[in-house]
Amino acid sequence: MAQGCLIVCDGNNGAGKSSVIRAIEEFLHSRGHSYLVTREPGGTRIGEKIRSVVLDPETPELCDTTELLLFAAARAQHLKEKIIPAIQAGKVVVCDRFTPATVAFQHYGRGIPLSLVQSINGFALEGFSPNLNIILDVDPEIGMRRVASRGEGLDRMEMQKLEFLTRAREGFLRQAEEAPDTFVVIDASQPFDAVSANVLAEVDALLAKLA
Ligand SMILES: Nc1ncnc2c1ncn2[C@@H]1O[C@H](COP(=O)(O)OP(=O)(O)OP(=O)(O)O)[C@@H](O)[C@H]1O
Ligand SMILES: [Mg+2]
Repeated sequence: MAQGCLIVCDGNNGAGKSSVIRAIEEFLHSRGHSYLVTREPGGTRIGEKIRSVVLDPETPELCDTTELLLFAAARAQHLKEKIIPAIQAGKVVVCDRFTPATVAFQHYGRGIPLSLVQSINGFALEGFSPNLNIILDVDPEIGMRRVASRGEGLDRMEMQKLEFLTRAREGFLRQAEEAPDTFVVIDASQPFDAVSANVLAEVDALLAKLA
């Protein structure tokens, strides 16, 4: 059986994660891989309920600690119920957002101490970690414009201010610098075809390494 793995696609709002994941999915399909595409928060029945609370734009009173714990709770359920079983079945799991977002938003963005965010992430992960974290990096103003141009309503995290998203961007880049073996940063300001080609080259390289 093929070796399963977890590929995370993360980065600021509007960087192009969902678009890139569609390209990864087509790529995996065309290569005949068995795969699972999923997202955080969410990915499970319970996780999607948590998502509806944590991303609800009508809950401005949600405090930072609750936010962190809700993201972690959704992740714990997601891992146990969906991600780990899929990896054990030899699937390539592709997840839209994961721990990099928690560190970027809850530590760099909200200011919750890094040690606390890491220990709560660690508690939810139980020693598990992604094989590859693809960080799509773009100026947050461009990301905000892209989100607005989709013409859909904004969720609670998409309503964050530019300063918050600028700190989060720094946080994504810092994590990549600190763990170059498992992070790759892609310049997401490029035209989509270039972004997608860069991402697929990284996915291809990982799968070749695991084969
Ligand atoms: N490289 C790119 N250049 C220009 N536009 C892009 C690029 N990548 C994505 N877009 C467009 O920007 C918008 C946001 O892209 P997408 O929904 O993939 O981002 P996202 O990171 O998933 O956003 P969110 O954080 O809200 O989930 C879409 O309309 C998409 O078509
Ligand atoms: Mg998206």
